[in-house]
Order: sequence, then C-alpha cells, then structure tokens
Amino acid sequence: MKVVCILGSPKSNGNTATILRKITETLEQNEIEITRYNLGEMKIGYCTGCKSCEKNGKCVQNDDMNEIIAKIYESDIIIMASPSYWGDVTGQMKVFIDRCMPYCNVNPNRLPIPVGKTGVAVAVRAGQNKKENKNLIATIEHFLGHLDIPLKYQFTIEGISTEQDLKNNPSVLEKATDFGKEIVYAEKI
Ligand SMILES: Cc1cc2nc3c(=O)[nH]c(=O)nc-3n(C[C@H](O)[C@H](O)[C@H](O)COP(=O)(O)O)c2cc1C
Repeated sequence: MKVVCILGSPKSNGNTATILRKITETLEQNEIEITRYNLGEMKIGYCTGCKSCEKNGKCVQNDDMNEIIAKIYESDIIIMASPSYWGDVTGQMKVFIDRCMPYCNVNPNRLPIPVGKTGVAVAVRAGQNKKENKNLIATIEHFLGHLDIPLKYQFTIEGISTEQDLKNNPSVLEKATDFGKEIVYAEKI
C-alpha cells in the first residue's frame, strides 16, 4: 500500500504539516510507504489555459508536476491537506489543481488516473465556523471527483491560527491520530 500526501500550506512545518504528520504516523507504524510533497517547495507553473492537454493529454510545461502525478499513479491513498486561505485552498494547491487538466475526466484526450484509489481531505482554519472548512473540502472533493478518485475520509480543524494555538490545544493532535487510526482500520491496512 502506498500513500501520497500533498501539502498545500507554504509552511512545511506549520499547523497543517504538523496535523498531517500526526494523521500519517499510524500509517507509517504499519509500514505503509508514504511520499510527501510540500507544494510550496516545488516548481509548479501556472496553467496558462493553452488547452494543449485537450488535444494530446499532455501539458506543455515540464516541471515538478511530472513527479507528483507519477506518484499519484502508483499510490493507493491520496491525502490532500490545506489551511484555509480566504475560505478555500491555498494558491499553491489551486495551481496544482489547475495543472491536473491532462487527467480531468471531462478532457476528451485525458490520460486517465488508474481507478480504485482513495481520497482523503484535510482542512485547517483559524476561525471557529465549520462551514468555511466544508467549502475547502468541497474544492478538494470536486477536484478528486474529476480524477475519478472518491473522497472517502475528511478531517477538519477549526480555531487554530498560530503554532502556539496547536501547542495549547493537544486534543487537536489526538483527534488527528484517531483520524489516522480510522483510515488504517477502515482500509484494513
Ligand atoms: C493569506 C491567509 C489567508 C487566510 N485566510 C483564512 C480564512 O479565510 N479563514 C480562516 O479561518 N483562516 C484563514 N487564515 C489562517 C490560516 O488558515 C491558519 O493560520 C492556519 O492554521 C495556517 O496553517 P499553516 O500553518 O499550515 O499554514 C489565513 C491565513 C493566511 C496567511
């Protein structure tokens, strides 16, 4: 079993990264191969809307997208995690999503992602209202749906603004551990 984690926060050691690591700890203990991509550290150009990928299923740009997509192809579980930026995924994650048009199921010449994968979405925000994180999860679900990857698990955390907030609220990381265990149990890992 292989898992790929795609982190949308520009902070590689920020709140979302810490929560994501906690979620995947149990998976790691079960000797699952985990590959982590921090989008903020990667070279991913904006989609220019040229629509070349609608003719031949390929993007004209050659950058770190190739490596991430190759890993998604061979992974069983795709975890996408983002803090809320203005009520949605970060710009880094949106650029990544835009660049997935070569694999989108409305692209007539797409390169289909193999079926049978499991999608996981994680959202973290400073505000308390759960509704905003639901929007963020809906963005990820919409994206994964167009790759024919069902969103099976979702995890949202509200009320975490600074790294100190996370330290002051140990129950958040406990919930993250429980969520990881839920995946391990449900997926019979
Ligand atoms: C540019 C920017 C926009 C943000 N927009 C929101 C927002 O709309 N709603 C919210 O609850 N938090 C918002 N936040 C707060 C972050 O979601 C929050 O601090 C989160 O814990 C950061 O996670 P990170 O450390 O993984 O980056 C925003 C933060 C930044 C930097």
